Amino acid sequence: MKTQLETIKQKALAALAEAKESAELESLRVKYLGKKGELTAVLKQMGKLSAEERPVIGQLANDVRELLTAEIEAQKAKLEEIKLEARLRDEAVDVTIPGREKKLGHQHPMYIALEEIKEIFVGMGFTILDGPEVELAYYNFDRLNAEEGHPSRDWSDTFYFDEDSRVMLRSQTSPMQVHAMETKPLPIRILAPGRVYRKDEVDATHSPMFHQVEGMVIDKNITMADLKGTLTAVMEQLYGEGTKTRFRPHHFPFTEPSCEMDVQCHKCGGVGCPTCKGEGWIEILGAGMIHPKVLEMSGIDSEEYSGWAFGMGLERMAMRRFKISDLRLIFENDVRFLEQF
Ligand code: PHE
Repeated sequence: MKTQLETIKQKALAALAEAKESAELESLRVKYLGKKGELTAVLKQMGKLSAEERPVIGQLANDVRELLTAEIEAQKAKLEEIKLEARLRDEAVDVTIPGREKKLGHQHPMYIALEEIKEIFVGMGFTILDGPEVELAYYNFDRLNAEEGHPSRDWSDTFYFDEDSRVMLRSQTSPMQVHAMETKPLPIRILAPGRVYRKDEVDATHSPMFHQVEGMVIDKNITMADLKGTLTAVMEQLYGEGTKTRFRPHHFPFTEPSCEMDVQCHKCGGVGCPTCKGEGWIEILGAGMIHPKVLEMSGIDSEEYSGWAFGMGLERMAMRRFKISDLRLIFENDVRFLEQF
């Protein structure tokens, strides 16, 4: 039995020294020291021994058990230390490596232009107003004096949602005039930027989705001179003092009189080039004195109050502001283009 114990001890110690995982140590513990382990099996034969031999072998067995137990613990501690060292090595941070640069984006040039426009109007006492892109034809047309049969209501120009042409993607921000008249106390000064939709083919100056900025003033004694004075001052603030503008008579159902405002072409300085289609001028907004019928439909006394409104194309403003020659660049979102602003 003595030799048996000695063999167990040697075998176990050798196996322990080889173990590389704590799970292995645990199964070795079970194998040698467990209830059905080899050491226990030897002890079960103690009954066969003589009374003199029994304490000697018992002592020896205990020594082996203690030795193996201690060895298992020591080996476990060693493995853990190795593991910790490996982890520390793996997770080591080299604080001398230069950091990875994070690419920071910035506002889209069109929104930069919009911010500038908003700032100028807010400085003049205007309030910014937001409204629905899915609009009722009632607000987009009827309340703006464009009744059934008006050419602008045509299916070929407008994205309708229903057969009855009642719900649509707004084709202009002008319905915001009506929303403002319905919800704001007089006097009113609002600026309403947003997306509008028309069935246009994409080219250098057209897109089926584009942006307008609507502006409206209603107060007592408002005249066309206020309209011209305000818009001229805005263009000078945006594009620099002495920026040349011109007003041309035009027609809109909801303004009377109506006009369009042009700004001298930024590319050719008025000589004529592809950007301005040889005109020397770029049309930037439609405007006019609010039609008395439109005021009355919203319950505003047109004898006491008058007002003006405009709707400008935001893309065109941004193109002029940043000297961009093709509208498509604004929507393509090519980073190489956007990075320049
Ligand atoms: N809504 C008109 C357009 O889209 C522009 C406009 C706005 C004209 C306000 C007059 C007054 O062309």
